[in-house]
Amino acid sequence: MQQDSSAAALADRLRPEIGRLRPGDRLPSSRALVERHKVSPVTVARALQLLSTEGLVVTRPGSGTFAAARPGPAARPADLGWQALALGDRAVDASGVSWLLTPPPEGAIALSGGYLHPTLQPTRALAAAAARAARRPDAWELPPLGGSAELRAWFARAVGGHAAPSDVLITSGGQQALTTVLRALLPPGAPVLVESPTYLGALAVARASGLHPVPVPMDGDGLRPDLLAEAFAATGARALYCQPTFHNPTGAVLTAARRAEVLAVARSAGAFVVEDDFARHLGIEPGPPPLAALDGDGRVVHIASLTKATAPSLRVAAVIARGPVAERIRATQLVEEFFPARPLQETLLELVSSPGWPRHLRAVRTALKARRDAVAAAFAEHLPGVPISRPAGGMHQWARLPDGTDDVELAEAALRAGVLVSAGRPFFPAEPPGPHLRVSYGSAASEGELVEGVRRLAAVLG
Ligand SMILES: Cc1ncc(COP(=O)(O)O)c(C=O)c1O
Repeated sequence: MQQDSSAAALADRLRPEIGRLRPGDRLPSSRALVERHKVSPVTVARALQLLSTEGLVVTRPGSGTFAAARPGPAARPADLGWQALALGDRAVDASGVSWLLTPPPEGAIALSGGYLHPTLQPTRALAAAAARAARRPDAWELPPLGGSAELRAWFARAVGGHAAPSDVLITSGGQQALTTVLRALLPPGAPVLVESPTYLGALAVARASGLHPVPVPMDGDGLRPDLLAEAFAATGARALYCQPTFHNPTGAVLTAARRAEVLAVARSAGAFVVEDDFARHLGIEPGPPPLAALDGDGRVVHIASLTKATAPSLRVAAVIARGPVAERIRATQLVEEFFPARPLQETLLELVSSPGWPRHLRAVRTALKARRDAVAAAFAEHLPGVPISRPAGGMHQWARLPDGTDDVELAEAALRAGVLVSAGRPFFPAEPPGPHLRVSYGSAASEGELVEGVRRLAAVLG
């Protein structure tokens, strides 16, 4: 971070200097730049790389760095109107997802975001694991189809129940897994039952695949099996997407009794259950066994992602499924993307097999517990009229705003006041039963920041 900002600052200083050169003129040597600007050789290298990607300089290995040729006078903008007709009305709405993935503006406190703050990520262990993985002689070769055998065995052990390594398919992160699974299971135009509220990225995937998400209400114990049965009967849906453990956005955990009921209802409907187990390793209290561990007839398609417990760019996850559906998902992945990058598969394997892995998970859980409690206490003190959930794991809390509050406007006003929160509305597939906010306790820098964020939010809510 530090190095990136000093490289950007050096690039700012060099731009006017380059502007005064003629195309082809040589820049001072790296050593001269180090001495003149009192920065490290790494900073100089990064600044030159930045200027090169901007097209301002050209580096010729062995000869030096030169001012690049200037672009000619701007061409007339092309007429792209024909594209609107050719593309038709099949727009892909990525607004919710891109909002979730955009870093908070400078100075704003992030009470929103789906990944751990960098101080909670195993950055050093990851760097070491990636270095070991990249040194393997076959690191850049084709991986075994289905994924690294050792990694598949690791995921099968982690899920438990009947899962065998051969049931595991390694994918490029949870989001890709979700896309591949939903496309494999359901044809465009089909209904898919979802918890209401649910992860907005799952709604985006379903809609982009031409599916119709149908809401099934939840309460504090998770999805309601009585209404699930009604929804299957009314829609004829052949799949349910759900997060039974540390649900995003509510934090709810489906009770043991309801787990059995959900499977029984899906069995009567002849439908699959897609279990998104995205936060398994973020249990402040241990989570119950996944639905997949109770599955006796290949009904559950389980998605296990590790980005939440590690880092957003470790884009490796697993789908665990049995029978013809596993074949369909495997074939869909092969056609869509061939396979996930082998160096990342090997990196994840190195990381989870290292002695530091259990230590990292313990440290994250301890930090998340303190953070969740800090947010709950700050709400009790500064927003006593706004009840907030106290989840047993994950990284999100769910707050019920007073009736009549516009949650989207509130989130915008909060951002102007320097705190980023997620409005509840985009997490509902249809009309929300009331206004809510999702408050994430994993993505801020510290407990102090979380408390200050709640104070800023309280000032906006008045
Ligand atoms: C419930 C849920 N599932 C899946 C994902 C996808 O995460 P990734 O692709 O990083 O594994 C997210 C990310 O926010 C999520 O919240």
